[in-house]
Order: sequence, then C-alpha cells, then structure tokens
Amino acid sequence: MIEIKKYSELLEKTKNALNSFIDNEFGHIPIVNETEWATPDWTIVYYKNDLIATFYNIIEREITVDGKIYKIGGINNVITPKEFRGKGYASKTLKNTEKLIFDELKCAFGVLLCADNLIPFYEKLNWYKVKCPVYFEQSSGQKLWGANIMLLTKNEKLNPAKIELNGLPW
Ligand SMILES: CC(C)(COP(=O)(O)OP(=O)(O)OC[C@H]1O[C@@H](n2cnc3c(N)ncnc32)[C@H](O)[C@@H]1OP(=O)(O)O)[C@@H](O)C(=O)NCCC(=O)NCCS
Repeated sequence: MIEIKKYSELLEKTKNALNSFIDNEFGHIPIVNETEWATPDWTIVYYKNDLIATFYNIIEREITVDGKIYKIGGINNVITPKEFRGKGYASKTLKNTEKLIFDELKCAFGVLLCADNLIPFYEKLNWYKVKCPVYFEQSSGQKLWGANIMLLTKNEKLNPAKIELNGLPW
C-alpha cells in the first residue's frame, strides 16, 4: 500500500521511524550535516505488511530555470530499509507516484540532487542528468551545488544553462 501524506500531518511515530532510517543512511556524511535542508511538503511511504518498505519526500518549490519560473517537485531521502532492498520497491514507488507530481501537484518536472552512484538507478526510471550550475540558498548566502542534479520531464528533455532552487536544497 502506498500512503501519500502531508509531511506536517505525519504521525509522530512515523516521523521518528523515517528520521531514524534517514539518520542511519545519511547522518554520517559531513556535507549532509553541514547543509541546511528544506522541510518536505509530502511524504510517500510504501508499506509491505504494515512495515515501511520504501519512502521518499516531495518538496514543492518554484525554481528558476534560465530566468523562467517553474513549479517543480523536488524529491529527497529516497530510502528502502536494508531488508527490503533489491525487490524493486523504490522503483515501483517512484514510478507509481509520478502522476502525483505531474497531475495532482501540477509540477512541470521533478528535480533531484544526488550522488554519482545513484545516477544509473534513476536513469532506469527516466530521470536524466543535466550539466549546468545549480544555485541554492543557505543562511550564509547563495551556494553552488557540487554534486548532480537530475530531472524528470513528461515530454522532451530540458538542457538548461542555469538553475536556481530559490531556497534551501533537498
Ligand atoms: C537506492 C535505494 C533507495 C534503492 O531501493 P530499492 O528498493 O532496493 O530499489 P529497487 O529494488 O527498485 O532497485 C534496486 C537498484 O538500485 C540500484 N542501487 C541501489 N543502491 C545502489 C548503490 N549504492 N549504488 C548503485 N546502485 C545502487 C541498483 O541498480 C539496484 O539494482 P539491482 O537490484 O538490479 O542491483 C536503496 O538502495 C537505498 O535506500 N539506499 C540507501 C539510501 C540512498 O542512497 N538513497 C538514494 C538517495 S538519492
């Protein structure tokens, strides 16, 4: 069962469980701890026999691409707890919720920021890497994103020259 919930309406115990998975996966990475991250708007959880088998968050944001504003769905913290990995759950959950991003949230495209090793995984799901500077905000000012940015578009691929996230990254 896939549950789609506003992040602000997640039960405390669900939020704690998700945070502990996130902390396990990313808590030891210095850049993760040193960066201020956006608060998600939506959380998608795939339950298998009442257990969390995959989850991820969506951030709704208006970003600027080559000077034009687009409402996009930012994806973050895609995690499958270890015992559920390699069964296609993350792929299935991401695929099954594309319509949420495009049709219900009316996003022009999906945007994710990720490390090199996950690029092939997302490419299989039709996400593609774009090579352009990506700027995001921190309390200390505007910064340049150092890793990858991938997009999911409905039709043709974009090839932008500059992306501004207009807020904290995700
Ligand atoms: C990435 C992740 C969400 C995949 O979840 P999953 O439910 O196992 O995904 P699927 O079964 O749909 O697809 C599995 C594929 O993920 C890819 N993959 C997973 N981890 C990977 C890694 N560290 N490096 C490269 N590819 C990886 C593989 O291509 C794998 O394919 P295979 O099963 O044929 O080997 C899961 O491994 C995870 O939680 N990893 C840790 C957190 C993380 O890095 N999340 C991504 C944040 S951008």
